[in-house]
Amino acid sequence: MINKKKMSSKKESKLRKRFKKEATSTFKKINTSIDFDKFLYQEDIEASVAHAKMLAKQKIIKISEFNKISLGLKKILKEIKLKKFNFNPDYEDIHMNIENRLEQLIGEVAGKLHTARSRNDQVATDVKLWIKKDIDLILNKIKSLKILLISKSEKNLDTLIPGLTHFQTAQPISLAHHLMAYYEMFSRDTKRFQEAKIRINENPLGSCALAGTSFNIDRYETTKLLGFRSPTKNSIDAVSDRDFIMDYIYSASTCNIHLSRIAEEIILWSSDLIGFSKLSDDVMSSSSIMPQKKNPDAMELVRAKTSILISNLNSMQSIIKGLPLSYSKDLQEDKKLLTSTSDILKLCLDCVIEVINGLTFNKKNMSNAIKYSFANATELADWLVKNLDYSFRESHSLTSKIVNFSEEKGVYLSDLSLAEFKLFEQGINKSVYNSLDIKTSINNKKSYGGTATSEIKKMILVARKECKK
Ligand code: ARG
Repeated sequence: MINKKKMSSKKESKLRKRFKKEATSTFKKINTSIDFDKFLYQEDIEASVAHAKMLAKQKIIKISEFNKISLGLKKILKEIKLKKFNFNPDYEDIHMNIENRLEQLIGEVAGKLHTARSRNDQVATDVKLWIKKDIDLILNKIKSLKILLISKSEKNLDTLIPGLTHFQTAQPISLAHHLMAYYEMFSRDTKRFQEAKIRINENPLGSCALAGTSFNIDRYETTKLLGFRSPTKNSIDAVSDRDFIMDYIYSASTCNIHLSRIAEEIILWSSDLIGFSKLSDDVMSSSSIMPQKKNPDAMELVRAKTSILISNLNSMQSIIKGLPLSYSKDLQEDKKLLTSTSDILKLCLDCVIEVINGLTFNKKNMSNAIKYSFANATELADWLVKNLDYSFRESHSLTSKIVNFSEEKGVYLSDLSLAEFKLFEQGINKSVYNSLDIKTSINNKKSYGGTATSEIKKMILVARKECKK
């Protein structure tokens, strides 16, 4: 008969009974994941308690055994939270670290916990539980940013700014309209994360190594206990699927790309070359040589860190693309990508919120940038169409000529006299000046989603309602 006591005496080699040699240190180094998967401890314990409870309910283990296991797991949770737990790389990962500690605490009955499960369904379950919680944390931060954008917009309905295409002055817009464009992006990010959360909500636990189990388990029970919508339907897919991590990183990287775009605009607007905005002193750094410098480092770093998230998505996709079904150890590497993505996105959200909060706008510079430009040229072209029945192509070409004339003269369109306008078109009358007025031009753009104050106010109302949900 095999001596069970002797079998469990060598702690490091619990899973190496078949091997005649100890693992080399290089092998241990590449194989261990405890340093980067210990963040899953809470979910691992939560899933283990649910699994053990179900095993007891199904009479696969005794109630008394469940009680011991559950008490032991709760003790471990406390130890980890109090930083009294000794994570050991010899036990490979978070799952084996907890299992080994459980054995120390409650003895051999700990071994019953792994009945009808494998680390393959265990890790997929843990990660799904973790992502669901993490998405809620991220959604809260995105919501704060959205509310901040709304309130900044409300304060800047009448702040005028040149709208750009190709980074060239295009048409005048309201600053509120520009800020609400970002609101729309973060609103889509919210939906992307919410949709990812719906797809993730299937419970892999009970799929075991890949084939399911002959034990009479109740997968609906663990599904209910862990708050999933339903059990996964194919045990092979359940242990090899990492779509939910790709979904998560895609949603995160898209959100960070939006943060990067706003960061880039803040950098440009706050440059002394443009002078549209100023960052608060507490979110800037200075230069070691140039005493006058105030640099927008946080926004530059948001821009740079976005690249890491884009690479994380790429790495995750590359890990999956060639994997035969079902589980392979390649999937262990997903944890680093996951936590790096989560940490970066949350930090960048915090930074952008902080910077926008303290950002001040130089309204004079903004309106001067419109005043001393041809941003109202399209208004003139539109006036010709509306008043003199020009086709838009004809009016476009005539307006170009008038712009050239003004440019050569060194003035802007509203500075031209009526007589000068008449050199190009006899029918032009003084009502043209009204349409060239910047405020009028903005408020005339009442098309759905346009920059007229009345439209922006409507959209802000929709946004406010959306944020109350
Ligand atoms: N640490 C592993 C991971 O993260 C857990 C699953 C290990 N499964 C196995 N059969 N070796 O993927």
